[in-house]
Amino acid sequence: MTTTQLDIEQPEQLLAWLQESGLIEPDEQPAMQPLSGGVSNRTVLVQRPSGQAWVLKQALEKLRVAVDWFSNPERVHREAMGLRWLTQLAPPGAIPALVHEDHAAHLLVMDAVPQPHANWKTMLLAGQLDSNHVSQFARLLGAVHRRAFERRSEVAPAFADDSFFESLRLEPYYSFTAGQLPPAADFLHRLIADTRRQRLTLVHGDFSPKNILVYQNRLILLDHEVIHWGDPAFDVGFSLTHLLSKAHHLPARRADFAAAAGQYWQEYAATLGDVPWADALEPRAARHTLACLLARVAGRSPLEYFSAELRARQQQIVTGLMQAPPQTISTLIQQFIERL
Ligand SMILES: Nc1ncnc2c1ncn2[C@@H]1O[C@H](COP(=O)(O)OP(=O)(O)O)[C@@H](O)[C@H]1O
Ligand SMILES: [Mg+2]
Repeated sequence: MTTTQLDIEQPEQLLAWLQESGLIEPDEQPAMQPLSGGVSNRTVLVQRPSGQAWVLKQALEKLRVAVDWFSNPERVHREAMGLRWLTQLAPPGAIPALVHEDHAAHLLVMDAVPQPHANWKTMLLAGQLDSNHVSQFARLLGAVHRRAFERRSEVAPAFADDSFFESLRLEPYYSFTAGQLPPAADFLHRLIADTRRQRLTLVHGDFSPKNILVYQNRLILLDHEVIHWGDPAFDVGFSLTHLLSKAHHLPARRADFAAAAGQYWQEYAATLGDVPWADALEPRAARHTLACLLARVAGRSPLEYFSAELRARQQQIVTGLMQAPPQTISTLIQQFIERL
């Protein structure tokens, strides 16, 4: 067996690979358990008799979705680069340590977040909204955006390629949505062009509650495949969309999620501080929020928890707001919420 054919979800293959790589002792018998959740990777938890635990992530070429969708497995090495840099840029403990990388098998090994932990998206959908978590979410993003900019001469060259962001975000979220909805096409095409021009700092590209684990009340960020040097307003809009879509989805908690969205923006902006592009960021972040709110109901990757009725309402409200886009996040939140 060559490592390029390795399938880490096959226990005997994985065991052989772990031994060949020298990661475990020759006679060691670790527990190996595939993790569910992702569609674009094989993810396996490896627990050693010593108590040490790792997560292995191996990129798939063909994504596990209903339609044929391919993506270059080289992206796992972008994620490994992301892990290396984010460990230095994010608050302590917010990023699992990178343990090993295998270029032939397109996989990486990182420290496992210990149990018991919970996925933040699952918590939010259950109505478990905690302002301390919102605060950590904001500060994590603000710290990465600010500190990567401060170290731009080192960080920018490592993340200059944005082809994964193009094929996994701009195309399926923005371009595809523009093709589906002519009334929004102009707005989206202009935003795509603007996004490509903004080469400001490190952008995570998948900053979503789904990629956050909460362990001992601390947020830990995962899943850095589309990280690139670009427009930080994308991360703000992408993440705010999750808080606002939950305000839509959970009427009983609507006011709380709206307040959380406002708090999130305030704390993000305070953490970002006085970087030279801070003022110009807000109206662009508002436009990315509208674009993502729409993409998550009409793009290639619709939010699975929305009913057809909620999708239709969000589409109608957001295309309306795009006619005269709000210039501040607080206006956007207010206008979106009052139209629900
Ligand atoms: N370091 C880790 N520790 C514990 N669980 C993890 C770790 N990395 C990933 N997982 C689990 O695997 C799931 C998928 O991982 P993720 O990196 O988000 O991959 P994908 O790109 O397929 O979404 C996560 O939601 C989480 O439950
Ligand atoms: Mg993920």
